[in-house]
Amino acid sequence: MHCFEESPSLSLLDRETFKFQHKLMGHPALSLENLAKVLPALSDGRVKHSKGFLKNGDDFESVMCKDPVRTLTIEETIEQIRVSDSYIMVDGPEEDASFKDLYRELIGDVEDVMRRCGVGERVTDPRLFMFIASPNSITPFHIDRYSNFLMQFRGSKEVSVFPQWNDTLVSPENREAYVALQNTKLPWKPEFDALAVKHDFRPGDAVHIPFTAGHHVRNGSEDVSISLSIFFSTRESLAWQNALRFNHASRGALRRVGMKPAPVGTQPWRDNSKSYMWQAMRKVRNVLRPS
Ligand SMILES: [Fe+2]
Repeated sequence: MHCFEESPSLSLLDRETFKFQHKLMGHPALSLENLAKVLPALSDGRVKHSKGFLKNGDDFESVMCKDPVRTLTIEETIEQIRVSDSYIMVDGPEEDASFKDLYRELIGDVEDVMRRCGVGERVTDPRLFMFIASPNSITPFHIDRYSNFLMQFRGSKEVSVFPQWNDTLVSPENREAYVALQNTKLPWKPEFDALAVKHDFRPGDAVHIPFTAGHHVRNGSEDVSISLSIFFSTRESLAWQNALRFNHASRGALRRVGMKPAPVGTQPWRDNSKSYMWQAMRKVRNVLRPS
């Protein structure tokens, strides 16, 4: 594999979280010199930055709100991120030629892992993100609609990942509504934390976050964090997505007759049946939709 070190844990794709090593430290695409060229050149909307600054004066806020990567050097941007509570998220850096090989090789490694696990040959919806974030910043508890490999390049994090289908952490109703894009607010209780696997995450490390496994992240205090994430769907997780949407759509009608949909993630044949039904329902809906 080009980007991932071999690990027996890779066979746990979308079953459990695990930490392993990536091979991308020192990759030229991720050098500060290259980022200084790439970030200002990406098209509008690819580079997003937070606006919630907590410290260090109004000047920085006004600069960051304009567009830091177009008004500051990369070193100044990272220095401002070091002393504020902010982040930059790059959505799709592979738009730039310098990231294209890296993107293709990451997809190749993900597909290699997928084939070994018997969850399809080709990845669906692969999306690459880069995050540059302040020391001590926190990403609160949430789930993602994709499977994910997160790779660390600079600074450290504590990445807490929770069991994937635990209904106490995330109720089936909330999970279904989240995946159906109807609700992104998930209740959090401090006692949940005892259920997390906590990864001490440093440069060279990679972590797998399974499909819809809850997670929260705390950056270390010593440096700005730079990380890369590849989100993707497999044949299996696409069926889970569709089955969750099917459950979300049918839950109201079933409730009226005192029933509830069977859970997703326990019986592949049932998830696949729901996925086919959901796709058929969407086709019918599209046909009936007035042109
Ligand atoms: Fe996430």
